[in-house]
Amino acid sequence: MDSQQILSILERASYFSQILKQKKNIPKILEGKIVANLFFEHSTRTRFSFEVAAKRLGGDVLNFDAGNSSLAKGETLYDTLKTFESLGIDIGIIRHSDDLYIESLKEKHGFNIINAGAGKFEHPSQSLLDLFTIQEEFGTLENLTVTICGDVANSRVAKSNIAALQKFGSRVLLSGPEQLMPKAENLEDNCELSPIDDAIKRSDVVMFLRVQHERHDLFELNIDKYTNSYGLNDERIKLLKENAIIMHPGPFNRDVEIASHLIEHKKSRIFKQKENGVYTRMAILEWIIS
Ligand code: CP
Repeated sequence: MDSQQILSILERASYFSQILKQKKNIPKILEGKIVANLFFEHSTRTRFSFEVAAKRLGGDVLNFDAGNSSLAKGETLYDTLKTFESLGIDIGIIRHSDDLYIESLKEKHGFNIINAGAGKFEHPSQSLLDLFTIQEEFGTLENLTVTICGDVANSRVAKSNIAALQKFGSRVLLSGPEQLMPKAENLEDNCELSPIDDAIKRSDVVMFLRVQHERHDLFELNIDKYTNSYGLNDERIKLLKENAIIMHPGPFNRDVEIASHLIEHKKSRIFKQKENGVYTRMAILEWIIS
């Protein structure tokens, strides 16, 4: 997706935001369409904001429950998806733990596919809602400095946001323990490693990431040390620029990457991100069927 396509989606997200806030009639562009949430990994925000978005647009939503499905009887993923195709779904919203599985499906199935999170590789709809939140705040996506702090190596959100922000000439600073950082030689042009306190002082946006314990197979992290070194606390928040904002894609570990009482701080846009997820996903659903 190029920068113009991203801006078009954000413009439509803004439109949906306005009509929902003004309680105007929402165009029922998904009327008669069936949207299936096909999540093979856990989710709260993505799954339910896609469901709310689809219902707001008049669509019917199926929520696939992988744990209670015939996958348990040995059915393959391919045959599961072929089954949904046979049922006549129009849009399949898929999350999967394999980095490339969703991309590999695109030509194989007779329904539109939306990527709801692919392994450690990409999370495009989260990135779009993050960009929408940033654009709402600053009126632009250009020439900003965004810090992403935490478990970058395991984060599909970080990878999608680094790639997207690069398209607008914004700079990304990465902070965190060496074991959770990409190698400096693998960084994109717009990206640099930075000590956390320096990064916070330079940034318009500071995005904290969850420590993804479930994806760490190589080392044990000392959580108290991590929180002291990288977590947002009362001292570190004072380093933020006056207009800077705090973001986190969620779910968060309270008192690990961010002190519990700072989650709803006036600089925090964490719950705004969740609200914006609905508007942005309405725009994504509109785009995929157009
Ligand atoms: N941000 C995000 O993807 O949250 P969920 O895992 O709850 O969908």
